[in-house]
Amino acid sequence: MEHKKVVIIGGSSGMGLASAKMLSSLGYEIVIASRSKDKLKKALLEIGKGESYALDVTNEKEIAQFFDFVGPFDHLVTCAASFTMGPFLKMASKEARDFFDSKFWGQYLAAKLGAPKIRKGGSITFFCGIAGQKPFMHFAAGSAINAAIEGLTRALALELSPLRVNAIAPGTVVTPVWDSVPEKERLAEFEKTALQLPAKRVGQPEDIAKAVCYLVQCGYATGSIVYVDGGALIV
Ligand SMILES: NC(=O)c1ccc[n+]([C@@H]2O[C@H](COP(=O)([O-])OP(=O)(O)OC[C@H]3O[C@@H](n4cnc5c(N)ncnc54)[C@H](OP(=O)(O)O)[C@@H]3O)[C@@H](O)[C@H]2O)c1
Repeated sequence: MEHKKVVIIGGSSGMGLASAKMLSSLGYEIVIASRSKDKLKKALLEIGKGESYALDVTNEKEIAQFFDFVGPFDHLVTCAASFTMGPFLKMASKEARDFFDSKFWGQYLAAKLGAPKIRKGGSITFFCGIAGQKPFMHFAAGSAINAAIEGLTRALALELSPLRVNAIAPGTVVTPVWDSVPEKERLAEFEKTALQLPAKRVGQPEDIAKAVCYLVQCGYATGSIVYVDGGALIV
């Protein structure tokens, strides 16, 4: 793997960081990107080696400059996204549009501007979420974004072939995205979710990192949506 380079946008936290660590331990060269230079610095210390770059995925020019900085590479993983939820009738349209800007358009543009730099045998791994298949309350924009990413994945697997394009759809995973929920409430929610799931636990970033490694490494996987959700879609 010595000369295989993986770019992970959103690699400074949560599932992106866990994926960066696992891929680095398998011998891949790692480039992580996100907005906060502080987070990137700390993440690189955890990974042990690699490069980092500060960018905002809602800014097309910054994404283009990033890929010029990176040059040719092998695999792209995109898990950068903001998060928002709230009642459909009350949520400001701008809030929903901003969510689309980061999670949908951020990945769309990363694929568009990154794909020409991906070497033969490479892949793109998007991140969506099980809400694209199974909606939950007050997450209409999130459900729509996740379903849109599933569509984008299949369309690009066809159009960009032989470049492989897949997506991971996580269920509930313990990452900093939940930090805005007060601790007591958050832990109670995880416990309640765990009891409902066939896996009897919520996910950890490493569960998803294993799926990312599979999609990066399996040359026969393309157009796939990999649901890593503790069985949430069957209950
Ligand atoms: N955790 C869950 O339960 C769950 C469930 C279903 C789906 N997902 C999806 O899984 C993916 C990863 O989530 P996570 O839980 O690992 O999130 P996380 O820990 O909050 O990490 C998000 C990453 O994205 C970066 N980021 C956010 N907005 C950005 C922007 N505009 N430009 C560039 N970088 C940006 C963050 O760094 P900076 O702050 O430095 O920018 C961070 O590195 C997301 O697409 C999320 O929607 C998560």
